[in-house]
Formats: sequence, structure tokens, C-alpha cells
Amino acid sequence: MRFEGKSVIVTGAASGIGRAVAERFARDGAHVIIGDRNMAGLAETAAMIGASAYAVPLDVADPAACATIVAEAVRRNGGLDILCNIAGVLDMAPLADITVDRWSRMIAINLGGVFFMSQAAMPHLVATRGCIVNMASAAGLVGVPYNAGYVASKHGVVGLTKALALEFARQGVRINALCPGGVNTPLISAPSAPGVDWTQVMRSTGWLDDGANAEPDDIADAVAFLASAEARMITGVAFPVDGGQTAG
Ligand SMILES: NC(=O)c1ccc[n+]([C@@H]2O[C@H](COP(=O)([O-])OP(=O)(O)OC[C@H]3O[C@@H](n4cnc5c(N)ncnc54)[C@H](O)[C@@H]3O)[C@@H](O)[C@H]2O)c1
Repeated sequence: MRFEGKSVIVTGAASGIGRAVAERFARDGAHVIIGDRNMAGLAETAAMIGASAYAVPLDVADPAACATIVAEAVRRNGGLDILCNIAGVLDMAPLADITVDRWSRMIAINLGGVFFMSQAAMPHLVATRGCIVNMASAAGLVGVPYNAGYVASKHGVVGLTKALALEFARQGVRINALCPGGVNTPLISAPSAPGVDWTQVMRSTGWLDDGANAEPDDIADAVAFLASAEARMITGVAFPVDGGQTAG
């Protein structure tokens, strides 16, 4: 129960890693506000967790919606202690096929979403000396072919994490990023897109467990650690959970 009574927001909680993170905080005693644009998945997560979760519709690419979910967390739970920016999309394509719309959507969700959620939450996190955990990726540390937009957005998340960590360190707010390798969620189960050489994309996998993917709970464990008092001296890091993928 290391998060007993804490007020937590988890974005992207309708599926995969976000759902596992929300379940994890609720199990450890937190009041969790869960947000996603997939309302059916969000309702499933809320039903799985029960009374300690409250679902709010959220498109992280919409700054007004980001402000609304933060206000809802503060109104219901009396403040905000922890923000987990998990929502994200993957859209693989060869460079020539990345249209203005595809590029803009990727940057608006994966990078803009983290920015606007953080901006809305920060005054409340300053008040509680709280923390933010951002979901970057191994693709925030190294390149992946056929993923120009995704890699750029996740490198952006790592940069944003470092900049805000320094800007708010003296006010006691910690901001860290997690960089998972492959994780078994719907995000990576889609068939390869036209023109994408999948063998090149998957060329670099982790070393642990013969390159096996992680499970969402493995990532939730790392999020819980970074959000806990045990990590009180850790801020501004991009923390790989990738079985060694980015070590070499
Ligand atoms: N699965 C992996 O291998 C892997 C690896 C590294 C990083 N990540 C990152 O982890 C995060 C979670 O991904 P996942 O693997 O659980 O995928 P997922 O597809 O299972 O979950 C992503 C969730 O984000 C939500 N979402 C997408 N756009 C949104 C928006 N505009 N507003 C609100 N919610 C939105 C989706 O509806 C979905 O519920 C993402 O940021 C992803 O980039 C995943």
C-alpha cells in the first residue's frame, strides 16, 4: 500500500501499459483518475479496478481536455500527487509515405500530449511536491527504421522530461521517463505497414530471455518505483526497461 491515499492520473488507461499502471496504483492504495479516448476500453479498466478508479474521457492532443482531467482529479481527490503520461500511438511508414496529417497526429499525441498534461498538472504537483512519469520508449534513446515520427516524438519526450526536471527540481517535483523495449500490448500486434521491412524494425531486441518482449506489469513495476519515495533522489532520467536493447 505504498501509494495509500495518493491522487494519481493515468492517461492511456484503456489498454496495455496504461491499464496495468492504473491497476498497480489502485492495488497500492491510490485514488486513480483514468483517461483515454477509447471509452469502451476505459470502462473495462474502470470495472476491473472498482471504486478506486474514476474514468474521464480524454484526448491528450486537446489542451482543454488535459486541463479538464487535471481539474477533475483535484476536485475529486483534493489535489494531485502523481501524473503518469502513458497515452501514445505508433504509426510505422517509410519516410515518403508520412503525410502532413500523419506527422502532425504523431507529434500532437506522443509529444504534445505529454507537454499539455504536464503544463496543466504542474501547479498542483508543486503544491504536493509530486512527480511525473512519462512513457517514452527505447525509440526515445536510439533510432528505429520506418519510425521517423515515432522516434522523433519519443526523443522529444526524453528532452521534455529533462528540461522540466531541471525547471522544477527546486520546487520538489520529480520528472522521469521510462524507455521500454518491446512490450506485449495491442500497440505492437498490428501487422506491418506497407513498405516497412519488419525484419529491420525488429533487428535490435533485448538480450534478456532470448529477446522476449516485456509484459505490461513489468513496466508498471518500474513506473511504481519511479513514482515512489524510494526514487526520491531520481529526476530527469530516461530509464530503460528493455532487456538490454539499448545497452550496446
Ligand atoms: N508496447 C510497446 O512495445 C511499447 C514500447 C515502448 C513504449 N511504448 C509506449 O507505451 C505507451 C502505451 O502503449 P501500449 O503499448 O500500452 O499501447 P496500447 O495501444 O495498448 O495503449 C495506448 C493507449 O493510448 C490511448 N491513446 C492513443 N491516443 C490517445 C489520445 N490522443 N488521447 C488519449 N488516449 C490516447 C489508446 O486509446 C490506448 O488505450 C505508449 O506511449 C507507447 O508509445 C510501448
